[in-house]
Amino acid sequence: MSAADGIAQAKPVLLTGASGALGSMLATELAERGWGLVLTDIRPFPGPLPLGARFAQVDLCDRAAVLEVARGCSTIVHFGGVSTERPFEEVLGPNIAGLFHVYEAARAAKARVIFASSNHAIGFHERTSVLDADCELRPDTYYGLSKAYGELMGRLYWYKHGVESISIRIGSGFPEPKDRRMLSSWLSYADLARLTVAGLQAEDVGCELIWGSSNNSRTWWRRDSRERIGWAPQDSADEYSEALGSIVSNDVVAERYQGGHLCARDYSRPSFPPAHSGDDSMDEGKNRT
Ligand SMILES: NC(=O)c1ccc[n+]([C@@H]2O[C@H](COP(=O)([O-])OP(=O)(O)OC[C@H]3O[C@@H](n4cnc5c(N)ncnc54)[C@H](O)[C@@H]3O)[C@@H](O)[C@H]2O)c1
Repeated sequence: MSAADGIAQAKPVLLTGASGALGSMLATELAERGWGLVLTDIRPFPGPLPLGARFAQVDLCDRAAVLEVARGCSTIVHFGGVSTERPFEEVLGPNIAGLFHVYEAARAAKARVIFASSNHAIGFHERTSVLDADCELRPDTYYGLSKAYGELMGRLYWYKHGVESISIRIGSGFPEPKDRRMLSSWLSYADLARLTVAGLQAEDVGCELIWGSSNNSRTWWRRDSRERIGWAPQDSADEYSEALGSIVSNDVVAERYQGGHLCARDYSRPSFPPAHSGDDSMDEGKNRT
């Protein structure tokens, strides 16, 4: 990718969650490629601001502030909010109200949204299933439910208001995979940066959903809209197979489902259904290779 992907863009890109792990990485990567950035987070930016970026400290729960910071932006790359399971009351403000504020801001600014969704929106599919992006939503937590809601918000704002969006159903976005589950779900930072750039540059995206994972041969995920935006992952967790293949959790719920340990969190179903039971009868890609 050239150093000036975004130079021709007169309007800046708004990045929420800019002080977080993925947000700060994207801030650096996008700035290096020449994109003009407005960075925002409830916490200060960690370190010096990238060249060409400005920072505004904003709480996603503050509707007026979100609308104001998004004014004049071409795209909102929305990575802010609660990023793991928390009590429902803590998820509610940033991820439910805040997401609504982001989409309202996009509507007002005529901006596109690139939304950091999560595999936890579909976490209760078994690991033996291969899923297409339009599979049944099976959130594994209140956090995952907020991501499912975010994906559906994209549809509402596309069909009702013509707001374009790309939801990236991120697997595990870390510098390196850490365990056997991530041999299937890992998304490298470089692949995420390239995917975000593709999402910024693509024309006429409509309302799209993309699996956010690298080119892992153990993937659980298949068809999505990546061709429409011109992205293909280049990295792979495969080279870590030997080192990580035996690193598993000792929890049967976590090991059965794609969402892993978040499926096991607060699990209180009185009888644990047998594997491949009717519970998975809705899987679109069940038993496909
Ligand atoms: N890292 C992953 O593996 C992964 C996987 C799936 C989805 N995601 C999603 O990607 C996004 C970024 O993930 P991350 O790992 O960088 O998480 P992170 O927790 O490091 O970053 C989230 C950022 O959101 C900010 N934030 C929280 N509440 C806010 C509020 N009320 N107002 C404004 N900002 C607020 C936090 O301060 C933080 O900087 C999140 O939406 C997360 O759900 C990440």
